[in-house]
Amino acid sequence: MKNILVAGGAGFIGSHLCECLLHQGHQIICLDNFRTGSLKNVSPLMNNPCFKLVEHDITMPYKIQGINEIYNLACPASPVHYQVSPVETVKTSFIGTLNLLELAHDNQCKLLQASTSEVYGDPEIHPQPENYWGHVNPNGIRSCYDEGKRCAESLCMDFYREYGVDVKIIRIFNTYGPRMACDDGRVVSNCNCECHNDDCPCSESNGNCNCNCACSNDSCSSESLATTTSMPSSQIDALGMFGFF
Ligand SMILES: NC(=O)c1ccc[n+]([C@@H]2O[C@H](COP(=O)([O-])OP(=O)(O)OC[C@H]3O[C@@H](n4cnc5c(N)ncnc54)[C@H](O)[C@@H]3O)[C@@H](O)[C@H]2O)c1
Repeated sequence: MKNILVAGGAGFIGSHLCECLLHQGHQIICLDNFRTGSLKNVSPLMNNPCFKLVEHDITMPYKIQGINEIYNLACPASPVHYQVSPVETVKTSFIGTLNLLELAHDNQCKLLQASTSEVYGDPEIHPQPENYWGHVNPNGIRSCYDEGKRCAESLCMDFYREYGVDVKIIRIFNTYGPRMACDDGRVVSNCNCECHNDDCPCSESNGNCNCNCACSNDSCSSESLATTTSMPSSQIDALGMFGFF
């Protein structure tokens, strides 16, 4: 049994991850400021004595000892949400990740950083190999998310090189599934809403769109995420490139 801290654990993917880790017999501390997550996502877990929910904004330091692993999923993922408060979005990726890396350093524990395919920006090659550096706009309206996540990856690698912190980075692609907000503005929820409204799904597409998806409650996806802390130190991996297209 491990003591695992999940930042952003009341969000869409985080709540599935908490569920999966509890099922594996671990003790979970879920940190969340409920910016985009909700109590409803974790309410089925609240009676589990191994689950502790702490309302906390990761841009503020959080001090605790005895943690074995940290998963950092805290960050609004949908453009609709992260563009409402872009400064807060970039602070969450930069200062929030810095605080959690310092916590990992203090606890000498692993940290898993949830990154995104958006670090490739508007990529010039498809599909993107992990070593592709991307084609990113540094000052556009999506930069708070894309550049925030790139800065978080850079911080992770610097904590690994400078302090030997055991970091893993996963680049998640479009994930869908139960608890995903219908109005979150991403491709699967948009298609879903259009179908419900009897519109032709993705009617604005010219048919050349290229998008990989993964289902969040598929045991393979949740368990893949829950085992990513066993990846070799400093490894960068793309999650969501497999199956469920
Ligand atoms: N869903 C996807 O398709 C997808 C794709 C690529 C990457 N990701 C990444 O995976 C992670 C989870 O995504 P999601 O879809 O579950 O998003 P989500 O918005 O449902 O979850 C994010 C969670 O983080 C919390 N949070 C935000 N800022 C915080 C802060 N400063 N302090 C504490 N908690 C904070 C939110 O309240 C929410 O519970 C994010 O880091 C996102 O960038 C998701």
